[in-house]
Amino acid sequence: MASSAQSGGAGGGGTITSNPRVWIVAGIAVAGVIVLAEAARRRRRWLRGKSSAPPDAGAFCDRFELSPPPQPPPPAARHLLSGLTFAASDNFEIKGYVAGFGNPDWKRTHEAPRHTAVTVTMLQKQGATCVGRTVMDELGYGVTGENLHCGTPINPASPSLVPGGSCSGAAVAVAAQLADFALGTDTIGDVRIPASFCGLLSFRPSYGVVSTLGTIANSQSLDTIGWFARDPSVLHVVGEALLPAIAGGLRRQFVFADDCFQLLKVSNQKTVHAIKNAVQTLPGYQPPKHINIGQYIYSNVPSLKEFCEPATKLQEGMSALKALSTVMLLLQRYEFKASHENWVNTVKPKLGLDISTRVLRAVNFAHDNIKSLYAIRNELRAALKNLLKDTGILVLPTTAGYPLKRNSKERLSSGFEDRMYKFVGIAALSGCCEVTIPLANLDHHVSLSFVATHGSDKSLLRTILDTYSLIQEQVVLASKLVMAPVTNGDVDVDIDIDASELLKEKGNSAFKRRLWSKAVEFYSEAISLSDTNATYYCNRAAAYLELGSFKQAEADCDQALLLDKKNVKAYLRRGFAREVALNYKEALQDFRHALALEPQNRTALAAERRLQKLLK
Ligand SMILES: *[C@@H]1O[C@H](CO)[C@@H](O)[C@H](O)[C@H]1NC(C)=O
Ligand SMILES: *[C@@H]1O[C@H](CO)[C@@H](O)[C@H](O)[C@H]1NC(C)=O
Repeated sequence: MASSAQSGGAGGGGTITSNPRVWIVAGIAVAGVIVLAEAARRRRRWLRGKSSAPPDAGAFCDRFELSPPPQPPPPAARHLLSGLTFAASDNFEIKGYVAGFGNPDWKRTHEAPRHTAVTVTMLQKQGATCVGRTVMDELGYGVTGENLHCGTPINPASPSLVPGGSCSGAAVAVAAQLADFALGTDTIGDVRIPASFCGLLSFRPSYGVVSTLGTIANSQSLDTIGWFARDPSVLHVVGEALLPAIAGGLRRQFVFADDCFQLLKVSNQKTVHAIKNAVQTLPGYQPPKHINIGQYIYSNVPSLKEFCEPATKLQEGMSALKALSTVMLLLQRYEFKASHENWVNTVKPKLGLDISTRVLRAVNFAHDNIKSLYAIRNELRAALKNLLKDTGILVLPTTAGYPLKRNSKERLSSGFEDRMYKFVGIAALSGCCEVTIPLANLDHHVSLSFVATHGSDKSLLRTILDTYSLIQEQVVLASKLVMAPVTNGDVDVDIDIDASELLKEKGNSAFKRRLWSKAVEFYSEAISLSDTNATYYCNRAAAYLELGSFKQAEADCDQALLLDKKNVKAYLRRGFAREVALNYKEALQDFRHALALEPQNRTALAAERRLQKLLK
């Protein structure tokens, strides 16, 4: 290369070949092609099992470079994404390159597109350079990121574990620092799950706000364009480039989905407290709220009932979340079939075991009540709008499970899938936007999700940008607490009991001052630290009664009585809750239970008389 530049320079004229700079560029371009060809060769060796390490962590299936247009001359502003590189999943069309959709039979039976995906073009116009296309689960239909044909990209956060799918390569390209950000499509968690496995930030925008034109669909009404980043400012600036300019204030109130955190194995109190501490130091943010989101969905999404398994009062919430993921998977099957049934039946593609099961299930899908699947989408979106309004952000874990080991020969268990899909359905079905952030210091592969109402994408990204470093600082502090020497296993528990008693006292004092919501907050915190004390539930039930939240009051009494069968107050409070809900028979039973335990109790005696009259 040096010699050609020299000989070109010696000419010194105005022709192209005589300009040394052009020679150097050409030299780099040729060298680039050679490097790419070498990478492709190493990749083939790796796939044939002849070498142990793939090039580029096995993230890419196509390497190329789409450069941005030149910067405008000053004083015009520089391009928004100038200097950033990105990759896109194998279902983004790039003019001149056939997309593989994760499967060689797909690639073989399709032609090179004449247009590049809208999002890729938008990013390029804003100054970003596309450096290639990345491996994904076949047909966008996997959750682990293992690909029979293209190889499984290597998760830099934990090389022995799967990277997560379906956008496995896109996540790995970013995690391995081979690109600053990457695009994928998130249908049922396909960006959020690999982000959590690989320790990245990710964003799933509101349904329909970022164009999917030029991407191969998996499920039309669930597909969204999502992106991965290592840095919150990159996550944010990509949003500035891709999202429509809608003005919106900052989101100012976090709402914790307590029921979801309870399904995590790691100490979720520490997570919740880390975020609360972070938020407290921010100007203008309101104190966080707590909710049982499953229960809320159960009560506010009526069409979901037909998909819920029979449940006791206390299980309603969990059965609603399970039903939500069932509905999501049914909708995906229905729409996948509509798009790809013909191709699957004609080509009979060779597919990995788990993928083939899913694809067959989709292609053979028959369901007689498609309308209710779509009704649930609308009802869920409205319910979340009602809950979060213009300021709320729902906080929950991204998934309830951990990544599997690579190459484990086991078929995916339904338990694993349940844990993966338990929470992702909330945004997928409602079309709300969601950011995930890693909590690497606390526990690998635990990610937090932040969900805001449909259309509030920019304000959500902005809020995360504002709070991210504070949250991570608090998480580091929390992780140090975890590692503090503990002489015996009980110490930790004692600390929690003391703290929860203190919170209960605060709750009682708020209650006395008639600050019912405050009281609920304190009791909830006490419960989140120690969830086996009947008194906390019973006290919160009293505050809920004052607030007119009779269902919650009843549920708290249920819980209190489960923990302590002789709790007279819990029977009395549940009796009142049932009485106002016009369930007189059940209310009477409660008052009689109270009387059996405390025969002289005048409150209970009066209530019994009152109800006997009502029931006559
Ligand atoms: C439960 O709460 C009560 C009342 O606050 C307290 O006296 C008791 O020690 C607590 N019990 C446990 C096991 O935490
Ligand atoms: C009835 O029982 C409850 C719970 O033990 C107690 O708080 C209340 O004071 C009693 N009421 C009367 C009038 O005895």
